[in-house]
Amino acid sequence: MKILVTGGAGYIGSHATLALLDAGHEVVVLDNFSNSSPESLKRVGELAGREAVLVEGDVGDREALTQLFDDQEQISAVMHFAAFKAVGESTEKPLAYYNNNVGGSIALLEVMEEFEVRDLVFSSSCTVYGEPETVPIKEDHRVGAVSSPYGRTKFLVEMMLKDLCLSDPRWNAAILRYFNPVGAHASGRLGENPLGTPENLIPFICQVLAGKLEKLFVFGDDYPTSDGTCIRDYLHVMDLADAHLKALEKLSERPGAFFVNLGTGRGSTVLEVVKAFEVVTGKKVPREFANKRPGDVVEAWADPSLAKELLGWSTTRDLKEMISDAWRWQSENPRGYDT
Ligand code: UD1
Repeated sequence: MKILVTGGAGYIGSHATLALLDAGHEVVVLDNFSNSSPESLKRVGELAGREAVLVEGDVGDREALTQLFDDQEQISAVMHFAAFKAVGESTEKPLAYYNNNVGGSIALLEVMEEFEVRDLVFSSSCTVYGEPETVPIKEDHRVGAVSSPYGRTKFLVEMMLKDLCLSDPRWNAAILRYFNPVGAHASGRLGENPLGTPENLIPFICQVLAGKLEKLFVFGDDYPTSDGTCIRDYLHVMDLADAHLKALEKLSERPGAFFVNLGTGRGSTVLEVVKAFEVVTGKKVPREFANKRPGDVVEAWADPSLAKELLGWSTTRDLKEMISDAWRWQSENPRGYDT
């Protein structure tokens, strides 16, 4: 099949593009490089032994999208990753987030409709669950009580897709709610390349161990968990990429919109992650407890049984593998994609 991947040069998009090429699909990537680099796609091409077609442009640019669908005949489906994702920044620039994440999705869906391409895999987040009422989290957990503009953009697009699929049975959408994607391709050639100081835990620890940051600040020490630190469900980005392939296959079999959690079903505390880093790298992670981060949920991990049942997917890589791949990427690419 020929698949359009929006945001295909980004962290998750680049790993998914590689998985698609490896599975024999043709890939067209649309990316504006606002938070990514063409170097990731160059490396994807090297790893796959063939290239994705690259179109530089904005997902909210209807003219560019129309041109793309005109030029690239027979696109069968779209994987839609292109979005802003920094929670803190979204509270400072809400309009930019609504414009890019919601407005960009509307433009994409309208142009897809015009070209009669009605199969979509959407990159959503467990952030739509807000502070969970129960863990593990199932897909029928209440959604929408979200604390950030970023989270609300994901929730709004989810609802839009649901309404669209209800309005026209020819539309199919796999709405994938990621827990915490981490790690990197095992080759050490692809990985997460945050601009500036990372906000997320694993890239932050990588940069501490690389000597770029002095120490880790562990946000909170008295949460009601086994060691007082928050619990998250970390999953390997290559497992996540595989889930996208499975979701794509499912679109033709299962009409309408479906919502699926993607996680391991296992939670780890911040200190457990720190310890795993120390075991994997043999280095001590300098750290200090700091204030809680506003908006952090205490614990969130997936019930991934629907993903198994519906997609035949479950994770195969454990926390140690996630960390050793993340560390290999960091050590071998100290400047990320700036070669
Ligand atoms: C965060 C976002 C989430 C978003 C996801 C995208 C918040 C509140 N949540 O998820 O909406 O979908 O990123 O990747 O921002 N931690 C530290 N020190 C650090 C960094 C993190 O102690 O320097 C802790 C956090 O308090 C948390 C855990 O590590 O308990 C994981 O943090 P992070 O990687 O930012 O992921 P989330 O908070 O789950």
